[in-house]
Amino acid sequence: MKNKKSQLQAESFYAVKWNAGVLTLLDQRKLPNEVIYHDYGSALGVADAISKMVVRGAPAIGIAAAYAVVLAARSAYQDSSSNWRNNIEEVLDVLSTARPTAVNLNWAISKMREKFETIKGNPETDLLNLAIKIHHDDIVANYEMGRLGAELIEPDSKVITHCNAGALATGGYGTALGVIRTAYKQGLLKKVYASETRPWYQGARLTSWELKQDNIPVSLLIDSAVSNLMKMEKISWLIVGADRIAANGDIANKIGTYSHIVSAKYHNVKVMVVAPSSTIDMKIDSGGKITIEDRPTEEVTHFYSAKTSSNSIKILNPAFDITPVSLIDYVVTEKGIIHNPDAKKMLTIFG
Ligand code: MRU
Repeated sequence: MKNKKSQLQAESFYAVKWNAGVLTLLDQRKLPNEVIYHDYGSALGVADAISKMVVRGAPAIGIAAAYAVVLAARSAYQDSSSNWRNNIEEVLDVLSTARPTAVNLNWAISKMREKFETIKGNPETDLLNLAIKIHHDDIVANYEMGRLGAELIEPDSKVITHCNAGALATGGYGTALGVIRTAYKQGLLKKVYASETRPWYQGARLTSWELKQDNIPVSLLIDSAVSNLMKMEKISWLIVGADRIAANGDIANKIGTYSHIVSAKYHNVKVMVVAPSSTIDMKIDSGGKITIEDRPTEEVTHFYSAKTSSNSIKILNPAFDITPVSLIDYVVTEKGIIHNPDAKKMLTIFG
C-alpha cells in the first residue's frame, strides 16, 4: 500500500477508483483535514480498508469489494491458472465479512462470483469489466434517484440529512445527497441541515465537506438537536440513505436514523429513504433479521480529546439501527418511487 497526497479541488475527489491495475481509495478517516489516497494491490488490503472505515457507505463498500474480487482473482490465477476458482474462496470469505450490515458488499461479491463460471483463461479482464460496470451503474442510479427524489420536493423546502450518503459513500453523486444536490440545482431548497453523526462524524466531516465542495450552504447540528430543530422550524423533509432494506421495506441505516425518523413523524416532517436496488435485500423479510454491526468501543471512548475511562463503564456502539417501514413515507430507488412502502409494493418492483 502506498500513500499519495492530493491537492484538494472542487469536485475532484472520488471515494473509489481503479487505475493502472490498482485500486485507489480516499482515506475518509482523514477528511476534512487531509485528502489522502491509498493504493491497494490485494483483496485482503481492501477488506482491511473496508473494516477500518477507509472506505465506507454501502454502495462504495460494494464497489470497492467488486474491484477487490479482481485483485483476488489476479493473485489466485498467478498461483494456479487451473485452480484459481477454488483458491480464491478463502480471500472472498474474509472480504465478505469485512462489515456485516450493508448488503451491497455481498451483493457485489455475488455478482462477481456469478461471472466466474463463464470465464475461460485469465479472469482479470472479464472481472474488471464487470467491476467497472457495477461502479458505472451505481453512478447512473444515483443520478436517476436524484431526479426522482427531487420531483417530490416542493419549492422553499428545508431538509435534514443524517450521516453521509453522498459521493463519498457511493460510486459518485450520492443517494440522499444526490436528491439534495439535484433539488438544490433546481432552486427548491431554502436550507440544508446535516446532523453530525457520532461517533464517526460522517455528517460533520463528510457531508458538510462534500456540500461545501459543491457550494451548497449547509448548517451542521449535533444529533440530539434534530428534534428541537423540527419543533422550532418548519422542516419539509428528512432525507436519508440506507445500508439495507428488507423485503417489507424496513430500513437499516446509520445509528441515529431511527430517532430522527421518530421525531420526524411527531413533527409532520416527511421521510424519504434513498437507496439503489443493490441495497434491497429481498431475502430478509423484515428489519429484525438484519445484522447490526457492533463496532469497537474505543470509537465511543476515544474519539474526543478528553478520553472516557472505559474500565468501569459498559460501552455500547451499534453502528446502525432499524426503522420500521410504517414510519417511512417514500423509498426512492433508481427503479422508481414507492409511496407508503410495504411488502407487497416492494415485491412488485424487486420480486
Ligand atoms: O458506517 P458507514 O459510514 O459505512 O454508514 C453509512 C451510512 O449508514 C449512511 O448513512 C448511508 O445512508 C448508507 S450508504 C449511502
